[in-house]
Amino acid sequence: MRKSILLAILHIFFIQLSFAQSPKIVAPGAAVDPFHYTIEKSNVYTNASVSCAHPLASAIGAEIMKQGGNAFDAAIAIQLALAVVYTNAGNIGGGGFLVARQVKGKTFTIDFRETAPEKATRDMYLDKNGNPQSDLSLYGHKACGVPGTVAGLFATLPYAVLPFKTLIQPAIDLAENGYVITESEASALNATRKSFIENSTAPTALVKNSEWKSGDTLVQKELAQTLKRIQKSGAKGFYEGKTASLIVAEMKKRDGLISKKDLKNYTAISRPALEFRYKGYTIIGMAPPSSGGIILCQLMKMVEDKPLADYGFQTTKSVQLMIEAERRAFADRSVYMGDPDYWKVPIKTLTSDVYIKNRMADYDSTRATPSSVIKAGIIKESEETTHISIIDKAGNMVSITTTLNNSYGSRTVVSGAGFLLNDEMDDFSIKPGVPNLYGAVGGEANAIQPGKRMLSSMAPTLVLDKNQNPLIVAGTPGGTTIPTSVFQTLINILEFGMNASDAIGKPKFHHQWLPDEVMVEKEFDPEVKKQLQSMGYTLTERGQIGRMEVIRILPDGSREVAADPRGDDSVNGF
Ligand code: DON
Repeated sequence: MRKSILLAILHIFFIQLSFAQSPKIVAPGAAVDPFHYTIEKSNVYTNASVSCAHPLASAIGAEIMKQGGNAFDAAIAIQLALAVVYTNAGNIGGGGFLVARQVKGKTFTIDFRETAPEKATRDMYLDKNGNPQSDLSLYGHKACGVPGTVAGLFATLPYAVLPFKTLIQPAIDLAENGYVITESEASALNATRKSFIENSTAPTALVKNSEWKSGDTLVQKELAQTLKRIQKSGAKGFYEGKTASLIVAEMKKRDGLISKKDLKNYTAISRPALEFRYKGYTIIGMAPPSSGGIILCQLMKMVEDKPLADYGFQTTKSVQLMIEAERRAFADRSVYMGDPDYWKVPIKTLTSDVYIKNRMADYDSTRATPSSVIKAGIIKESEETTHISIIDKAGNMVSITTTLNNSYGSRTVVSGAGFLLNDEMDDFSIKPGVPNLYGAVGGEANAIQPGKRMLSSMAPTLVLDKNQNPLIVAGTPGGTTIPTSVFQTLINILEFGMNASDAIGKPKFHHQWLPDEVMVEKEFDPEVKKQLQSMGYTLTERGQIGRMEVIRILPDGSREVAADPRGDDSVNGF
């Protein structure tokens, strides 16, 4: 009798043990195989759906949701996976913003933007004659803000259902055992090789003796150890203990400012979302310290009363109207926007219908309004960030944009910890009123102060339909082109009736008030270009604009998921 009870207990114990061990998701031949994977640009799923910058990270997100995780679990696992496989922008040494809507209807955002270290000073990037030294805010140790990403992950965790150790395990496996790199990653790593060597103080896994080729395996053992410390000790595994000591030791080697106190004091902030209506749709965006939500709101509302759909997709008439909206929305950025905990941002006014309609009062549909007659500052930024769009079976929507700022951030890898630090300090105005090397001008609102968050353009966005049901999850990298890319994508869907793939695949144009020029992708219609020139616009062809990740919920509830054709971006789901 006793023996059978003992056997029964043992049996239950073994059953529980086997349930507790979730199947391995990252391994050769497993659900996510880091040595064999393909890029998928679009699909329609009936259940959980992901679009992000790397196929392995998308696959991990889908797999986590298959194992019972929700969109928040997927968000955490994807962000961590991107920190390993999308080395130029995925990160634990950067920061970003999450915009979410729970299926119950609660919307919220998490601000995990980097902060200026306590020792930062307003003039830290000026030489003794007061001239800006922009290289210092872009490359190397002094360019780094206090990272926010890991705090952001733990601020997201209460909304998730799986244990953190399960969510971080795929990233650990990828770092520990390696994954095969793509053509574009190989060429980006090769192009940055010299800068890694100049700005890092110890050998890094990102640099090898010969050129990287597609198909090579990238193994990041030190990063795996850092991730394991986070797995074991939570946020303290990054902000305290060995990882913090390694960051501070790295800083001390070359005048970096981040201290143990800065790391220990870093907190992610939960902020109300910036919500507005556009023709009955509800748009949910990011409030300051990102300018993204306010700019998007202004752009959408500046065109709301015009019959864009009748004007037609990328006709001279519709493009000209959208350019003039972009010019005006960007003019406010440098004067009014900064970290709301340090500077009173007049959000209510900037997003009010009356104010916005007034901004378009001098709009002339026959010619360009010169930027010189519109007040505010010059804005131009670098372009390497990454976006994740997710919806789960229940309908929880998560939109996250994170960044190291420049491609590969400051190019400084923390010796012994294997991850890159950001160069986000360059997003401050390094000298209020004077353009830095990137052309960015800001005023007092975005001047450097210890502990302050630098102004961003990131615009993770959600859209609800007229019945308040999920309709779109969207976002993109691209510096100042972020709000304009989101704007044009939403207009392509809501006004021009496009599906998600078409909406993100079309050529984009960008005006940011100053410089007074319209930047266009090379596929932009030459005929429209000519007509705009004859109306007084200066057009400049530039490289790709944006890398949108979009999920569009169809009337039958299925999800059309699209990843930008401009990169290795890939969708996944089931
Ligand atoms: O926060 C910002 O606005 C910039 N640091 C983002 C940079 C960026 O998007 C670069 N991306 N491609």
